Amino acid sequence: MTTLGPYDLNTIITGDARELAKAIPDESVDLIIADPPYYRVADVDWDKQWKTIDEWADWCLDWGREACRILKPNGSIYIYGNNKNLAYLQVRFDKLEWMLINLIIWSKTNYTMLKASPDALRSYQVQAEEHILFYGNDKLPGFGTVASQQAGTPMGEYLRKERIRSGVSMRAIQELFPSQTGGLTGCVSNWELGLNFPLKEQYEKIRSYINNGTVEYLRQEYEDLRQEYEDLRRPFNGGKFTDIWSGPLMNGANKKHISEKPKWISDRMILASSKRGSIVVDMFTGSGAISARAYQLQRYFIAFEIDPATANMARKRVAETQPPLPIVYHEQMELLT
Ligand SMILES: C[S@@+](CC[C@H](N)C(=O)[O-])C[C@H]1O[C@@H](n2cnc3c(N)ncnc32)[C@H](O)[C@@H]1O
Repeated sequence: MTTLGPYDLNTIITGDARELAKAIPDESVDLIIADPPYYRVADVDWDKQWKTIDEWADWCLDWGREACRILKPNGSIYIYGNNKNLAYLQVRFDKLEWMLINLIIWSKTNYTMLKASPDALRSYQVQAEEHILFYGNDKLPGFGTVASQQAGTPMGEYLRKERIRSGVSMRAIQELFPSQTGGLTGCVSNWELGLNFPLKEQYEKIRSYINNGTVEYLRQEYEDLRQEYEDLRRPFNGGKFTDIWSGPLMNGANKKHISEKPKWISDRMILASSKRGSIVVDMFTGSGAISARAYQLQRYFIAFEIDPATANMARKRVAETQPPLPIVYHEQMELLT
């Protein structure tokens, strides 16, 4: 795979993110990381393009619609912002076909009080955090809610249809898996609803029972069903973290861009929500920091940046990026802080 729509993978494209995203095919992207202008936070022209915060949030909804369209049914999106602007955004983004998984707080561990003037310190508490919205696509029934993240809809559907086709009642299957006291449990209906995934031994037990010596039913192998489930399920490998992410922001000397985001956050998002070979869209790439991490972690990326000089800087950064890291490194979340 070398292209996505008209774009070569692993390239930075100059232009407006929403317009450029229109050329990406529907449901083709695994992960989107969006670090848009925050609206009048940075003293630069690109952050002052809108007259009001509502105008800014409407603009976000426009590119958000494209982001939602290109995201795979099991895709994920992270959006950077602050305490105020994300409140406006969230109301709008809730209308899209995705669900809020976390409102992550980035607690900046190297924030210095000296940044606030003595006068300011008398009137408010120093803001030492930023926010990140984490949405999952909500297009797959049975995979759409946090509670049902373990759901295996293809397996559930298959179990139910095959049981009905064989004429065996649910009760008969339930009796194969009694509770410790010998009563009936809800495990079989949970498997059929796709709320849980049976173990291989449990699947084989049902298979053997409904076939009753024949090979007519449940002919699909357990591992194939498991693979189908894994392919559909939203990848998530961030279980050892909470929704408070503590770590440093980048400081002046190391920064190539006024809003450059630290490597450790990009790594955390990319490793938690994509796999090797996944496609990551970095919608507002700035210095290319996020794309460079995606590349190093053996994901493909496509990045957009409206300012030609900034886009060139990002291209240079990616070109200078070390070759992809060996697997032993990048699958270890310990190295990420
Ligand atoms: C918050 S910064 C991104 C910083 C980046 N994450 C990094 O680590 O360097 C936002 C970037 O979006 C760019 N931008 C502004 N409007 C844009 C648009 N309509 N389409 C694409 N990029 C845009 C700006 O030029 C700026 O570089």
